Amino acid sequence: MSDASAANTATAPTHPGLFISFEGIDGVGKTTQVNRLREYFREKGCSVTETFEPGGTQLGAAIRHLLLSNAEDSAQVSPRAEALLYAADRAEHVHDVIAPALERGQVVITDRYLDSSIAYQAGGRELSESEIEELSMWATGHMLPDRTYLLDMDPRVSHERLTGEPDRLESEPDSFQNRTRQGFLARAAADPRRFCVIDAAQDVDAVWEQIRTDVDSLLESRHLGGREQSSTPSETSSGAQRK
Ligand code: TYD
Repeated sequence: MSDASAANTATAPTHPGLFISFEGIDGVGKTTQVNRLREYFREKGCSVTETFEPGGTQLGAAIRHLLLSNAEDSAQVSPRAEALLYAADRAEHVHDVIAPALERGQVVITDRYLDSSIAYQAGGRELSESEIEELSMWATGHMLPDRTYLLDMDPRVSHERLTGEPDRLESEPDSFQNRTRQGFLARAAADPRRFCVIDAAQDVDAVWEQIRTDVDSLLESRHLGGREQSSTPSETSSGAQRK
């Protein structure tokens, strides 16, 4: 597992913004860290769009409901249809929310992005990684994050942290979550310049400290550190609700 503070700098951006994704299996604490990072950027005067998948657009909210409700019919979604629905959600998300915000020069923070599809639909569901990746790259016009924070944890521990009714994927057995975890780790190993892997079993403050240290070096390398921006920080872009 790589150390956050030793993370590499990101690849050259094709837009004036900064695109950050958070990934990991269910229950690793992504939402808490996304919130901290949003506030951190805002304190620095950066304009931030915070968003999530699935469901970060109006169409996406309908797709999210189809995918994650525990109703009998949604439990029957076939693996290819499931992969296509996540890809459709992502295509709309990039088109309506992510790309416009990056073009405006904003920081975009998304709770899940295409690595989730590769880890869950390929790692977990036994479709091939290359076909899921091709689908997602096509759906997004090859839009990759500048940095991806992978919060990594043993599924037996993360499951204990989940509260509320589990959704359809959270109800999957640990063997599924384990394959998904390995899928994420394999993605990170294949692209260490983009990924920063963090041990999410540490306490929340220790996880945040690693993210903050890495973000500072990322901002330094992008010359964004402390930059005052004229636009008002936006609220969660889509206004969509997760549940
Ligand atoms: P998430 O919104 O992170 O869960 P929560 O409702 O607990 O905040 O994600 C919902 C589920 O969707 C999660 O189990 C992972 C799954 N998922 C995929 O299987 N493929 C994908 O491409 C994405 C984005 C999510």
